[in-house]
Amino acid sequence: MQRKGILLAGGSGTRLYPLTLAVSKQLLPVYDKPLIHYPLSALMLADIRDILVITTPHDRPLFERLLGDGSRFGIRLAYAVQPRPEGLPQALTIAADAGFLSDDTPSALALGDNLFYGADFPRQLREASARREGATVFAARVADPRPYGVVEFDPEGHALSLEEKPAYPKSPYAVPGLYFFDASAPRLAAGLRPSARGELEITDLQRLYLERGLLRVVPLGRGTAWLDTGTHDSLLDAAQFVAVIEQRQGLKIACLEEIGWRRGWIDDASLAASAELHGKSSYAAYLRRLLSEPRPAAK
Ligand code: TTP
Repeated sequence: MQRKGILLAGGSGTRLYPLTLAVSKQLLPVYDKPLIHYPLSALMLADIRDILVITTPHDRPLFERLLGDGSRFGIRLAYAVQPRPEGLPQALTIAADAGFLSDDTPSALALGDNLFYGADFPRQLREASARREGATVFAARVADPRPYGVVEFDPEGHALSLEEKPAYPKSPYAVPGLYFFDASAPRLAAGLRPSARGELEITDLQRLYLERGLLRVVPLGRGTAWLDTGTHDSLLDAAQFVAVIEQRQGLKIACLEEIGWRRGWIDDASLAASAELHGKSSYAAYLRRLLSEPRPAAK
């Protein structure tokens, strides 16, 4: 069975109030495109083309308006809602209940507010996606790991422990919001109980794999940036990061049409149609420019 993707784009976004009083965090802009483009691009770069977008009940129509059925990008998008933000592992049970995941479907769960950028990252993504057994997560060094799941390593570099939002982290390595699971994940998620803070915790699910020797933890190189966008400052940092890279290179980060086109999932005519859809924006000009530049080999 092909691996399927889940993009979790619900949550309450309370740290971003008042920005998120009326609209979901994942619809907010990061420079020139909505935040959700970035984690969706990571799933596409992992060669995943069947993706379930899980949203709040309130914002589902907006996500559908933005992304449609995915055909513009050469992928298939389905939608489901999470009635209340009761924790990340719920995404897997929602996906299973919706019939999106069956007993033999491996998955990748991406958080709708995480942004990755790095030369080696697409290769790491494809490798994680191709691995069939167990679960794969990444480890990213951060100055302050306390707001995240933290992974501790032994001297040989093997993962020893996982802790969610520890007051005293055992290492500077956080687990970014993009996880690859084998087909047993929905069943394992259904057996989890809420933590002291009243949520199902993704680290509890990952620990079940760790305890059975089935968790692979892949360090992100220092040339790969992992940004999260949960606060006003980190949202601004992400926008500035994207603007600096895009303005310097003249290439866009997380342009979904471009990724689909370079992979050969959509043809020139579809790319041209997308350019039309984007009116007089620089995004439209960018899509048109792709068509007129020398064609890179499809990957
Ligand atoms: P968080 O940043 O942990 O939570 P949040 O988005 O609700 O924000 P805040 O802490 O400011 O209230 O969530 C990480 C990502 O996962 C984010 O994209 C929202 C999403 N999410 C859900 O979709 N459902 C959930 O049950 C939870 C906990 C998070």
